[in-house]
Amino acid sequence: MNFTLQAQDKLSQARAGVMETAHGKIETPIFMPVGTAGTVKAVHQHELVNDIQAQIILGNTYHLYLRPGLDVLHKAGGLHKFNGWDRPILTDSGGYQVYSLTEVRKIKEEGVTFRSHIDGSKHLFTPENVMDTQRIIGADIIMAFDECTPYPCDYNYARRSLDMTHRWLKRCCDRFDSTDPIYGYDQTLFPIVQGSVYKDLREKSAEVIASFEREGNAIGGLSVGEPAEEMYAMTEVVTKILPYEKPRYLMGVGTPINILENIALGIDMFDCVMPTRNARNGMLFTRNGIINIKNEKWKDDFSAIEAESDLMMDQVYSKAYLRHLIRSQEILGAQIASLHNLHFYLWLVKEAREKIIAGTFYDWKEKMVKVLGVRL
Ligand code: GUN
Repeated sequence: MNFTLQAQDKLSQARAGVMETAHGKIETPIFMPVGTAGTVKAVHQHELVNDIQAQIILGNTYHLYLRPGLDVLHKAGGLHKFNGWDRPILTDSGGYQVYSLTEVRKIKEEGVTFRSHIDGSKHLFTPENVMDTQRIIGADIIMAFDECTPYPCDYNYARRSLDMTHRWLKRCCDRFDSTDPIYGYDQTLFPIVQGSVYKDLREKSAEVIASFEREGNAIGGLSVGEPAEEMYAMTEVVTKILPYEKPRYLMGVGTPINILENIALGIDMFDCVMPTRNARNGMLFTRNGIINIKNEKWKDDFSAIEAESDLMMDQVYSKAYLRHLIRSQEILGAQIASLHNLHFYLWLVKEAREKIIAGTFYDWKEKMVKVLGVRL
């Protein structure tokens, strides 16, 4: 993988760059639509490519390992072949899902034992087998196995957990570096900074993570319920330490405002279920604020979903019609709303990128942050 920085904002830490992976280029800052089980829910590949120009999607080791399972993925020739997506893919390691989705779990030095949320079967994830699994899935960027601490988190727990995440990282790197890609193209491993909301732990973690000298670095354990100001404070502490010339990925973040503020702090990559999950419940993000399309207010509003948008579906369908579809739980409602929100998120990061390159990012960001939270 190659990362080239193209522009640096003068009034903030925001930067624009290009990553090159075996499956193509990614222009940063970028938002990665979440495709947990190998599909971005309710969105076709051709829409991702043609309608919203998605450059990279995310998959989840935890889900793909449980279903369809490694045999099928291996036989298919990896996830790209299995789901027909030939652009870059990043897989999360399961270091978040095993904590958020499974009830019965035991965290030990060796790894985590958990029961599947699908059928209750028992499994063990270790740093080594999670690397092997991500080799089989075949994502371009794979993530280290970590513990994502909850919020709030006791200082001593956060410190002990962090030390274990660092020991696990060493095991991840040893395994990854001693194995070859299965499908003939390069993969790269990103480590993850943890440390809850404690400045000293975050600093220590960022230093340890940087010392591994991988091709990119991630920040985890944020957007887990802490106030936004604490998230920004932690991002700021960490981005000061992580190497400037390598991509920085903030995991699981966030709202449009969170994304802009973290771009200003020097983050290059984001993912979040919010645009797709909230779409299915009728929450639409627009450049004028947030719409709850289920509200009575939109009942007979036959105007375009978003007049300023260049997404075909935003022009073809009206707010009143989308309200009807979502309220009736029609599949098409989820499809239109999900594509709309992803289009908005990708528009937002593309605009941010253009403003960074043009040297006008900071003022634009300040203006956008004021409108994006408005409830229409
Ligand atoms: N997704 C969101 N936060 C995290 C995290 O802390 N770790 C991992 N592995 N994935 C995440």
